[in-house]
Amino acid sequence: RIAGPCSMVLFGVTGDLSRKKIMPAIYDLANRGLLPPGFSLVGFARRDWEDQDFAVIVEQAVRDHARTEFRQEVWDQLSEGFRFVSGEFDDGAAFAELRTTLSDLDQERGTGGNHAFYLAIPPGMFGSVVGQLKEYGLVDGGDAWRRVVVEKPFGRDLESARELNQVLADVFPESAVFRIDHYLGKETVQNILALRFANTIFEPIWNSHYVDHVQITMAEDIGIGGRAGYYDGIGAARDVIQNHLLQLLALVAMEEPSSFGSKFLRQEKQKVLSSVQLSRPLNRTTARGQYTSGWAGGEKVPGFLEEEGISADSVTETYAAITLQVDNRRWAGVPFYLRAGKRLGRRVTEVAVVFKRAPHVPFTEESTEDLTQNAVVIRVQPDEGMTVRFGSKVPGTAMEIRDVSMDFAYGGTFTEHSPEAYERLILDVLLGDPPLFPRHEEVELSWEILDPVLEYWAGQGRPEGYPAGTWGPASADTMLQRTDRLWRRP
Ligand code: BG6
Repeated sequence: RIAGPCSMVLFGVTGDLSRKKIMPAIYDLANRGLLPPGFSLVGFARRDWEDQDFAVIVEQAVRDHARTEFRQEVWDQLSEGFRFVSGEFDDGAAFAELRTTLSDLDQERGTGGNHAFYLAIPPGMFGSVVGQLKEYGLVDGGDAWRRVVVEKPFGRDLESARELNQVLADVFPESAVFRIDHYLGKETVQNILALRFANTIFEPIWNSHYVDHVQITMAEDIGIGGRAGYYDGIGAARDVIQNHLLQLLALVAMEEPSSFGSKFLRQEKQKVLSSVQLSRPLNRTTARGQYTSGWAGGEKVPGFLEEEGISADSVTETYAAITLQVDNRRWAGVPFYLRAGKRLGRRVTEVAVVFKRAPHVPFTEESTEDLTQNAVVIRVQPDEGMTVRFGSKVPGTAMEIRDVSMDFAYGGTFTEHSPEAYERLILDVLLGDPPLFPRHEEVELSWEILDPVLEYWAGQGRPEGYPAGTWGPASADTMLQRTDRLWRRP
């Protein structure tokens, strides 16, 4: 899969995302030979830069963050296609210049009039940019394709998400809108579909007859770093549950699509998301917290309220846990527990499908003391792979049964490289391959699920504190204990 002739216009070239993810991914794709020879990258920003200044910025980003080795010949060829347009996002003259730059590139580098516009900018600015693109005739390429790539946050609630979708829909057809949820670019996340639908051994037990509950965890050991401006007022639920965790839930719980084509896959995800409901009452089925000072990696770290740029009375949650139910025949009665937090004990994202106990165990209670419940754990990161937990006889003269696990690790099994999520997704944009990009219906359904919790929390004052380096607030443990269950300690 190699992209055909095209160029990409990047709005937001000075942002963290461009520097850490987008620019390095473009270089890595070029280095792996997956971009067409004439691929061109146009930076658009307020800075008073020349093309060379832009190239210096990209080179630094690549040297700092690319996954593949720096090769001068690859760099030279790629950077020949770098251009820079200076202007505000509502500056007509700058968009006129952008149009000229793109048509020059079509001539000089054979980009074929195919352009992707990547909006790595705050959503409040989408309207100006797409409005100008339309005004300057950059949206309709005739036989050539035009696509727009947008990053989350896709709104901060259902209403703002609808408005944002409308802003895009006024200019681009839905088929030209590529929403990035980088979790869908991860190998292990895509593997959930392979695991479920390419095998026979999991699907027959993937339902309420056998599954006791599902836990989806996204734990990070980092704090908010330099992202106070973005994070304060957003919090863990909006930042990652609305998108990454609900997408994971959709892949774990959906029915089998009739093919992996984007239409069918998105249909099934949409269908399952529309069956998802919050379990209630919310004071018993949700929990939220905010980290206080504590320890991370052997170092003392400040609490959230002491972080630079956070207001001292911020009520933003850095930890969120919710209980969901999926109201369909397959999942009726099976709770889905989702939790996400910053400054937790360690970095780990996993999906654990925990099974019911055997209906009858013909062994004594003492001999099964160390036997818990069977589980299939999909390890999304960092230790990519899967574990199946089950009971086994402990060698010896007595019948003693204990949990053991069977492990599949990517590192030990595959020699092929795993593309970084952004590499995969950017390549898919250039190829026009949409299955890994959520449609606006999915985004809106996710907000519909989450909005009531956000409203409820807004009236609850301060989140409960938890020391950095621990596993979140006590109320999150209580939330599970109420139903006789425990969070996993990965
Ligand atoms: C982003 C969130 O979407 O995902 C960040 O905005 C979070 O807060 C990041 O740190 C985590 O991504 P990953 O790929 O490291 O799990």
